[in-house]
Amino acid sequence: MDTKLLIATENHSLREESIRAAAKLLHAGEVVALPTETVYGLGADATNRLAVEKIFIAKGRPSDNPLIVHVANKEQLFELVEEAPAYVEKMIDCFSPGPITYVLKSSGKLASNVTAGLTTVGVRIPDNDVALDLISNSGLPIAAPSANISGKPSPTAAEHVLDDLNGKIAGILDGGPANVGVESTVVDCTNEIPVILRLGKITPDQIHNVAGFVECADGSKGEVGKPRSPGLKYKHYAPEVPLVLVKNRNELQRAIEQERKLGNRVGVLASAATAKNVMADEIVVLGESETEMAMKLYQALRSFKQTDVDLVMCESLPQEGVGKAVMDRIERAADKILE
Ligand code: TXA
Ligand code: MG
Repeated sequence: MDTKLLIATENHSLREESIRAAAKLLHAGEVVALPTETVYGLGADATNRLAVEKIFIAKGRPSDNPLIVHVANKEQLFELVEEAPAYVEKMIDCFSPGPITYVLKSSGKLASNVTAGLTTVGVRIPDNDVALDLISNSGLPIAAPSANISGKPSPTAAEHVLDDLNGKIAGILDGGPANVGVESTVVDCTNEIPVILRLGKITPDQIHNVAGFVECADGSKGEVGKPRSPGLKYKHYAPEVPLVLVKNRNELQRAIEQERKLGNRVGVLASAATAKNVMADEIVVLGESETEMAMKLYQALRSFKQTDVDLVMCESLPQEGVGKAVMDRIERAADKILE
């Protein structure tokens, strides 16, 4: 299959034409990658079972892992769900459009494979103009998991989608790089108290402030426990090169030396501050702030594929704001954790 690259970056004259072409492909039951503020999504018409099936095939995604549905506004969101507790509307007014997904009781209007047969559905309003225009222009709710091959780091740029899925999907709508960089916070809103299933940029504290209460599910922080979100049981975000998390920063250089003595070439993923004081074969700097580190994480994990390192070592990064979500993803991607 020929994968069409549809340019829709800001101020580009092709923007409207590209969005129309992507909407047309969605109506034809095809799969199109689209930009969001978190990561690129692999989109299909959420009401079309055959189209949704193509997402699972292209990604190699297990069929028991439900997809997030993207809508343009609160009204469209409420059409897809029922019985939302009062705190949900408060959260939507505060956080959406934005990097948060609400798991709610489904009203049954979507293809059943979107929700992997569950009675609940994850819905979100992405904070990205190209995505919102595509949803409005097509008039469709768009089912979209992250647009990577299952298990690999999520794509934060159109090039990453192309690397993983060229020839396997009908199109990629290029809206430029994603500016959050880690996937949305997933919140189970089916009970009296919102339960965080996956950490993201919207933090537990922020949700607590708006909803009045919040809990974190076992597994939402990478702890062993019964996963509440089906996707949490699978290995995620793994770079092509093995990743070792060195929790104690003071041990990082020693751990690097040990591997080099064994004849291994070592890559390092670190904050700007640590990078200045470390010696290794390849050093990728994630940045200064948590926000910057989130934005660069997946690109950095992907970048080691182009080098000749045998393994990558990463330190424990600062955990304010989105920093906790960044560490959650690193822990899930890691092959080994040195305490
Ligand atoms: O930021 C994001 O959320 C990105 C962009 C593209 O929107 N999407 C994304 O989708 O990360 P995906 O499929 O890679 O992750 C969706 C997560 C999975 O862990 C899945 O199990 C969970 O959300 N999920 C979806 N629907 C659910 C449901 N009804 N109940 C519990 N968990 C659900
Ligand atoms: Mg994913």
